[in-house]
Amino acid sequence: MRTIKIALAAALALSAFAAAAQTIKIGFITSYSGLNGNLGPYMERAVRLYIKEHQKELPPGVKIELITRDDTGPNPDKARQLAQELVVRDKVNLLAGVVFTPNALAIAPIATEAKVPFVIMNAGTAVITTRSPYIVRTSFTLWQSSYPLGEWAAKKFKTAYTLVSDFGPGHDSEEAFGKAFTAGGGKIVGAVRAPLQNPDWAAYMQRVKDAKPDCLMVFIPAGKTATAVMKNFADLGLKDAGIKLIGPGDITTDEELPNMGEVALGVITVHHYSAAATRPANKQFVADWKKEFGQNETPNFLSVGSWDGTALIFEMIKQQKGKLDAERSIEIAKQWRFDNSPRGPISIDPETRDIIQPEYLREVKKEGGHLANVEIETLGTAVKDPWKELQKKK
Ligand code: PHB
Repeated sequence: MRTIKIALAAALALSAFAAAAQTIKIGFITSYSGLNGNLGPYMERAVRLYIKEHQKELPPGVKIELITRDDTGPNPDKARQLAQELVVRDKVNLLAGVVFTPNALAIAPIATEAKVPFVIMNAGTAVITTRSPYIVRTSFTLWQSSYPLGEWAAKKFKTAYTLVSDFGPGHDSEEAFGKAFTAGGGKIVGAVRAPLQNPDWAAYMQRVKDAKPDCLMVFIPAGKTATAVMKNFADLGLKDAGIKLIGPGDITTDEELPNMGEVALGVITVHHYSAAATRPANKQFVADWKKEFGQNETPNFLSVGSWDGTALIFEMIKQQKGKLDAERSIEIAKQWRFDNSPRGPISIDPETRDIIQPEYLREVKKEGGHLANVEIETLGTAVKDPWKELQKKK
């Protein structure tokens, strides 16, 4: 009898604890395999590091459970299936992550149907945020980098060639750059789209070389592809021919710089994040990253999108004291400002749920014996997605 009483009391105490304790489940989908499968960990590590450093700020009894899934690269069918399982079976409170645009677009209808907020921490095609009222983006759009790049390039060069991966963000980069470059008086002498998987870079580089443009603007998804582009640019003699390589920061992604070698020196990019930035918030972020993951490890822009996305999720949880309501979470996101991002002050545009952030002109230089994206000019401190701004004017 006595044992039964003790057992009952223990069970009651446990259930009382369970009622007070609240677990927020985040369904985190990213790429751990397939094309650029090395990128997933740059996102997951950032989320885990943010949680580790900030979990003491959560309301008492609230815990975060991160449920990670591999979408195997640009694979919308897989992404859709994973999101569905996370929502239906795991009953996640939030969806987050995603390197690739096709995957984000495939998940959007699930977020809408299930009324689950979806925090996009990388995928950068402008249109994505229009596909669900439950999407908030803490990464970037390709228009945010490629449009100011086009404006800058028009002041330096007469002719440009564009070479982009043939999918959403590539099309955006090509269009944004082309629009700004021609509006500034430049001429696009060639525009080519390469397949996302296994393109013959040497053949494309030869075509560009034959066209003799002043500059070549490239977009490819960050990761190993960036190094392949760099290598072919050098091997086919475009650098020696005096063609300037420029692009959004995806082509000089921080973690690949050590693999690129001297050819990357002098490459000009526009982007919101460089691991070499000297802002105190970034120095702290990079130092914490190295301490946690190793002195030779470097965060990249996918890490920062994920770090800031986690900061936003914390804000949702804190303001709602651990009880998440989807509509309320999105309202909180729309009001969100974060002055302490490693990239500088950011906020969410309440009209579009897309990020507003600084954009920097950078040059690859050697710093302390290593290649680095050195910020040389701030092109804008609060840049909204130019695609959406131009749509409004139509
Ligand atoms: C995307 O699919 O939206 C994407 C992927 C890699 C990048 C940028 C954008 O570097």
